[in-house]
Amino acid sequence: MPLAVIVHGGAGNIADQEVEPHRRGVESAAQAAWQILTEGGAALDAVQAAILVLEDDPAFDAGTGSFLNRDGQVEMDASIMDGRTLDAGAVAGVQHIKNPILLARQVLASDFTFLIGRGAERFAQECGMPLVANRLLRTREQILNWKEYKANPPGHPEPAYVSPQGTVGCVAVDRHGNVAAGTSTGGTRFKYPGRVGDSPLIGCATYADNQSGGASTTGWGEAITRVVLSKSAVDALARGAKPSQAARDSIEYLARRVGGTGGIIVANPLGHVGFSFNTPRMARAYITEEMPTVLADC
Ligand code: GLY
Repeated sequence: MPLAVIVHGGAGNIADQEVEPHRRGVESAAQAAWQILTEGGAALDAVQAAILVLEDDPAFDAGTGSFLNRDGQVEMDASIMDGRTLDAGAVAGVQHIKNPILLARQVLASDFTFLIGRGAERFAQECGMPLVANRLLRTREQILNWKEYKANPPGHPEPAYVSPQGTVGCVAVDRHGNVAAGTSTGGTRFKYPGRVGDSPLIGCATYADNQSGGASTTGWGEAITRVVLSKSAVDALARGAKPSQAARDSIEYLARRVGGTGGIIVANPLGHVGFSFNTPRMARAYITEEMPTVLADC
């Protein structure tokens, strides 16, 4: 079966000087996933590898470099789904976790589907994942931003078109036609402690089903959640839509039905990919077997 990887690095109002770091970041993430697939690896491992790259890159609102909440802390959300079995793992409101996508993967492998906060952190320790000091996840830039937000708080819920950074995600298809998807975020700028958006919610940000395809979203989580965006896009694939059409239609619906702003990446089991966004920019990268190299843009 044809391989495919598509990655996003957030939909929002990414500043001109941030375009190149975003472009480079999503390109590296897509390359990491592609290497796994071309060596015969699984879609689920490819998705995890791409998101790890983006969580470790402080240009993105995920893992290290996440936006800080009103208390000046990181609180991160992530989810991952295996289209082969429909197994899914998600975590929300976690601190002290360097790579939330790895914890979501551990949840996927367990009897649980979704763990939050301290329970998720305890589960991480039981899985042998070290807890890290929160200060290691807070970058100097985000601390400076937080001080500015404290003086002049951004609105909440914040429409994605004003956000300078965004959530990350990936959809991949492996040689066996297995589809996987994942999403990871630090949430919105200066968010209310405990606020959770779409990113850890299966069907809202992340969905994968070998029978139809996979999707990952980015943007205004409150709006995306209300229209269950990723499952809607995958349902459109099941009805025969091409990934590009499913992506376009779902973002149009997000805007029309709830006035939402954001972006989505989509892939089907035949290795076709599509994306759409209604924000000024969305960092994205993709590669399929029909392409000589990764195409990255922002
Ligand atoms: N889309 C990420 C969030 O709203 O938290």
